[in-house]
Amino acid sequence: MDSPEYVRDPHAFFTRLRFHSPVAQAVGPGGLKLWVVSGYDEARLALADPRLSKNVDVARRSILANINRKADVMAFAVDLVSHMLNSDPPDHTRLRSLVNKAFTVRASEKLRPAVESITRKLLDDMAAHTETDLLHAFAHPLPMAVLCELLGVPLPDRERFDHWLGARMSNDPQRIAAAAPALLGYLRELVDHKRRAPADDLLSRLVQAQSADGRLSPEELVATTFLLLVAGHETTVHLIAAGMATLLLHPEQLARLQRDRGLLPGAVEELLRYEGPVKTATLRFTTEPVELAGTRIPPNSPVAIALTSANRDDKQFDAADTLDITRPTAGHLAFGHGIHYCVGAPLARLEAHVAFTGLLDRYPDMQLLCAPGDLVWQPGMFRGLASLPIRLRPPGH
Ligand code: HEM
Repeated sequence: MDSPEYVRDPHAFFTRLRFHSPVAQAVGPGGLKLWVVSGYDEARLALADPRLSKNVDVARRSILANINRKADVMAFAVDLVSHMLNSDPPDHTRLRSLVNKAFTVRASEKLRPAVESITRKLLDDMAAHTETDLLHAFAHPLPMAVLCELLGVPLPDRERFDHWLGARMSNDPQRIAAAAPALLGYLRELVDHKRRAPADDLLSRLVQAQSADGRLSPEELVATTFLLLVAGHETTVHLIAAGMATLLLHPEQLARLQRDRGLLPGAVEELLRYEGPVKTATLRFTTEPVELAGTRIPPNSPVAIALTSANRDDKQFDAADTLDITRPTAGHLAFGHGIHYCVGAPLARLEAHVAFTGLLDRYPDMQLLCAPGDLVWQPGMFRGLASLPIRLRPPGH
């Protein structure tokens, strides 16, 4: 599941898989034997099934039982794992409840002025050029600056953050591993700083929860901050970049959106469904035999739920391979489903709305600078572009 064909066009791969077996055995990256759930109904059931665990100990046991190369397990056994996306209830409930309030629609709206001003500044900076890489000039820095605002990362430190997030986006395991200790060290420093000088930001509130009543252990505090960075950055980068590319590849849909901006919220949902940033949800592990679509998955099995595939299932969405910004999209799984449903969804939507509005207002004549087939997609769990070369305005303007 990381062949060049799959990376370029996962939809073709999943269409075949869904047709033959919506619950199938496969070999994942690193030689891990796993089960892939690709049908919509099956994916929705699996995402809400408590017999599919995210507990770290269950995960280690299951991975060891399904992989030949120990080195890959070592890569998995990194620090920074004690967060909500690696937990089952009751730990999951406790960890999630500590950040929940910061991500409601209302709380996210408070970040709107910051998101708008960051967006405006990036769009201004781009104006000096006729051509640019939209991924690096806009889609990458926007969510990173928003996360710094949310967490309370001081301005002078943002470059260090950016360095690390850049390493992650490179998809180069060695660069990621090399940058991880520095990030961990920095996060610990930042936590100490917030302890000494609390401010009105999410990290200060988490530090408060840790020291005031011990609802959060020191490792959980750092791991939660790390999770918010990882979960909140790359996903949003790809929604903005791949979303814009998708609109440019469907000029008639883009023109409708330009004519009627009231269509934007629906268009963002359709972009999430059609080309959502998360190809497969994070792995789950069966704690007992689980039967799905008549297939029995044995205990201690890794399970990958293909959100990208479920969102293109014709049984759920009419003509699912067609982009239609006015179609009903309720029930799409781009943000997951069940207890791990994306806690940052309101913020991601807000960022996408502001980003697309800004791009369409300022650069209405934007064009792709390469042939559609030359767009380079990244390997891994995200459906994301490696770059997005565009012309901002027609030559001579
Ligand atoms: C377009 C942008 C985004 C997409 C497509 C997205 C997608 C997802 C998905 C699919 C999951 C569930 C993963 C699973 O079940 O394995 C998830 C969980 C999560 N997301 Fe997002 N996400 C986005 C933006 C954000 C943002 C902006 C934040 C926060 C700043 C965030 C924080 C989280 C967290 C903390 C979880 C774990 C929730 C839990 O375990 O209960 N996400 N996201």
